[in-house]
Amino acid sequence: MKEHSIKLSILKSLSQGGFHSGEDLGEKFGISRAAISKHIKGIQAWGVDVFRVQGKGYQLANPMQLLNQDIIQAQTNNHVELIPIIDSTNQYLLDNINRLNSGSVCLSEYQLKGRGRRGREWISPFGTNLYLSMYWRLDAGMAAAMGLSLVVGVAIVEALEQLNLKEVKLKWPNDLYYQDRKLAGILVEMSGQAGGAANLVIGMGLNLMMTEQTEGITQPWASLCEVAGHQDIDRNQLAITMIKTLNRALLDYEQQGMQGFVDRWNRLDNFIHRPVKLIMGQREIIGVSRGINEQGAVLLETECGIETFIGGEISLRPHR
Ligand code: ATP
Ligand code: BTN
Repeated sequence: MKEHSIKLSILKSLSQGGFHSGEDLGEKFGISRAAISKHIKGIQAWGVDVFRVQGKGYQLANPMQLLNQDIIQAQTNNHVELIPIIDSTNQYLLDNINRLNSGSVCLSEYQLKGRGRRGREWISPFGTNLYLSMYWRLDAGMAAAMGLSLVVGVAIVEALEQLNLKEVKLKWPNDLYYQDRKLAGILVEMSGQAGGAANLVIGMGLNLMMTEQTEGITQPWASLCEVAGHQDIDRNQLAITMIKTLNRALLDYEQQGMQGFVDRWNRLDNFIHRPVKLIMGQREIIGVSRGINEQGAVLLETECGIETFIGGEISLRPHR
């Protein structure tokens, strides 16, 4: 879309740092200063903090490193598509499964309709986080999808540990947590069965440098820059690491299933041995969280002993 491409070009200039006058930008892109001002408003509506100083021009309030498809593609074996503005990277892959190979990746800078579990909104401001989805054809079929989302969570946290990004934890079934706040979410969706195999899309939203001004998130959240002690994070390198990590985890899962993953998951469980409640529609069950089992069910110690719970309609929350 032409309109988006001008905004993206303006952002590319701004991401180089410093002030950029409306006049210079207008000349560069062959449009008027008024048109630049209109585009800047559109950029602000994407969640980007741009300010203007009289006589100097526009500047980004926070540094921004844009994703670069060529850099990412050059360092991964997976087919990568970077679509800067998109409804949802998961939806894009679901819509294009027929022409894509298993392992294909979609990345975006900004999702207009990013989603979480059960149709909840995933807030996706421009250029600050990672929105990454991978298509995977799973021969084991859809019954294996639950375990798969747990395995993916473990693999991502372990990859972060290897980058010296420590203290990231997991919340059943598919969230990453840091200091009791949500850092990332994983969403596994299915487009249908083909002769027993399941066409899955595994999407990850990982907050990197989200600012306090971000609106619309209804629970405490964290960003990876906190874990990194506010050092800069190279978004392209992180995207490459995440693609490789996902690909490896999915191959491992195809070969071993959940075997060997339970202990790894439980080591990283944010709520293990803590009082929690499980919410299932109108029903709430209170107990002490005891990790997961080989089926990927969450274990809860209640007055009745250890009970197991599994299924997509369950939400786990701390019980205070
Ligand atoms: P559960 O998955 O256990 O039901 P959840 O509340 O985390 O719990 P999800 O559907 O997994 O629900 O995630 C969507 C929720 O995440 C939204 O309701 C919102 O509160 C929160 N959220 C949305 N965008 C972000 C974001 N960028 N970072 C952190 N949290 C977010
Ligand atoms: C959750 O916590 O419920 C999962 C959130 C998943 C968000 C990611 S962002 C990339 C991909 N595209 C989407 O629309 N959702 C996932």
